[in-house]
Amino acid sequence: MAKNFDVVVIGGGPGGYIAAIRAAQLGFAVACIDDWKNAQGGPAPGGTCTNIGCIPSKALLQSSEHYEHAGHHFKDHGIQIGSLGLDLAKMLARKDTVVKQNNDGILYLFKKNKVAFFHGHGSFAGRTEKGYEIAVAGAAAETLTAKHVIVATGSSARPLSGAPFDEKQVLSNDGALAIPSVPKRLGVIGAGVIGLEMGSVWRRLGSEVTILEALPAFLGAVDDQIAREAAKVFGRQGLKIHLGVKIDAVKADRKGVTVTYADSKGEPQTLAVDKLIVSIGRVPNTAGLSGEAVGLKIDERGFVEVDDACRTNLPNVWAVGDVVRGPMLAHKAEEEGVAVAERIAGQHGHVNFNTIPWVIYTSPEIAWVGQTEQQLKAAGRAYRAGTFPFAANGRARALGDTAGLVKFLADEKTDEILGVHIIGPFASELISEAVVAMEFRASSEDIARICHAHPSLSEATKEAALAVDKRALNF
Ligand code: FAD
Ligand code: NAI
Repeated sequence: MAKNFDVVVIGGGPGGYIAAIRAAQLGFAVACIDDWKNAQGGPAPGGTCTNIGCIPSKALLQSSEHYEHAGHHFKDHGIQIGSLGLDLAKMLARKDTVVKQNNDGILYLFKKNKVAFFHGHGSFAGRTEKGYEIAVAGAAAETLTAKHVIVATGSSARPLSGAPFDEKQVLSNDGALAIPSVPKRLGVIGAGVIGLEMGSVWRRLGSEVTILEALPAFLGAVDDQIAREAAKVFGRQGLKIHLGVKIDAVKADRKGVTVTYADSKGEPQTLAVDKLIVSIGRVPNTAGLSGEAVGLKIDERGFVEVDDACRTNLPNVWAVGDVVRGPMLAHKAEEEGVAVAERIAGQHGHVNFNTIPWVIYTSPEIAWVGQTEQQLKAAGRAYRAGTFPFAANGRARALGDTAGLVKFLADEKTDEILGVHIIGPFASELISEAVVAMEFRASSEDIARICHAHPSLSEATKEAALAVDKRALNF
């Protein structure tokens, strides 16, 4: 006998589990199906983000940064360490514990909110007068019926053609988070978010890291001035980044991995490494969903087609997160999940795509919201810019973390904030002020007139806002 629900969510990542919780809060009978298995074969909800994405990468970024500080920066603070050791197995085990805490937290939240959780693979099986039929394949096979379906099946790492992931030598983000011993030479293909974050982790732990990037410009989506600053700092840290390359072939054997490529001048080059991370973007998970059973429209790149409100071509079928257009970010997936649950309840759920923050968790961190200077120029928008360096901020000096700057871009006439770009300590936290300001359509003068605690990094934000009007006080 099929079990009936108001809402069935397929996928328990940040898009799916948050949609399920919000729908349950709104009084619906909700089920969430997720197929992720932990090492013991048990349920591990949370998707890519929790299991092999945001959470474990941030755990390793934190651990490796402690290691780097202990090895290189504690002495600046007058702290002496006799000898420094690395217990990589323990570091990886700690990361796994952090992941498990998050998996367990989601299972607890499902119970608390009375979301029925099904551990298994969900697919469309048909449509009846009761709604959509969803088959669950797993330990306990079931068929569910649902008035509304939310597809939140996420994405997977894109392999390089001719070089499938073996997760031993040619690694996706999954293998990159679990290398059992620090490779002497680590290659990375793709200088995007994963390449820089994972490259930073293993460089700090002792690898010689070389990153090969196809595009001629470094961090093309980032404001040019911030990207230039980032290239300078990462270069100083020892990350070797080669831009404008064309990969010819990747060969893995017992000795390691050899990448042959043409450099930016078209000259043939060879990179020999012990391990290779391939981080060249991600592909949506729509194979295996049996969308064809109900006529769900999937585009030529494999994304579920949706409108601005996450409606698919089918009535009462919605899709959110990495499996649809837009940035592949956990918080974007969550916002869409909440908005869809509220729309199902007849409310006016809304996602403001102009104020979705981006963060790259390198050191220094890079964070931004809104438009870059190059985008404003291309659009012919008149703007004023204000910048403030962390080198002139008292708290950053006290931290010993003075690289980077805050940059404001504001409309020339109205002074409305159009974009804020930060490279520096705790940029991931500082950017929230800019997001709030932009949501309220604040001007740079609004931020400049607000009292900020002293000494704090947020004073650099205020000073950059003041600098828009050429009246920074401390620079
Ligand atoms: P997912 O998290 O991919 O979840 C989808 C879930 O659905 C998975 O559990 C999957 O197994 C399951 N599933 C798929 N098909 C089925 C099916 N047919 N039946 C049942 N279950 C199914 N984003 C950030 O915002 N900040 C970060 O710091 C960040 N760091 C990242 C680091 C790495 C290394 C990676 C790879 C990604 C990172 N991301 C980060 C991106 C973030 O992980 C994704 O944007 C986010 O996980 C998308 O959420 P989602 O719910 O759409 O999909
Ligand atoms: P990405 O899109 O950030 O970067 C991929 C890079 O690979 C690009 O610079 C691209 O030009 C390059 N590339 C593509 N094909 C190539 C080729 N054949 N040879 C050489 N270079 C090539 O994708 P990435 O790093 O894989 O991450 C996927 C997504 O996961 C990100 O876009 C982001 O949405 C999400 N993510 C977010 C994080 C965060 O918010 N901090 C952290 C990690 C991932």
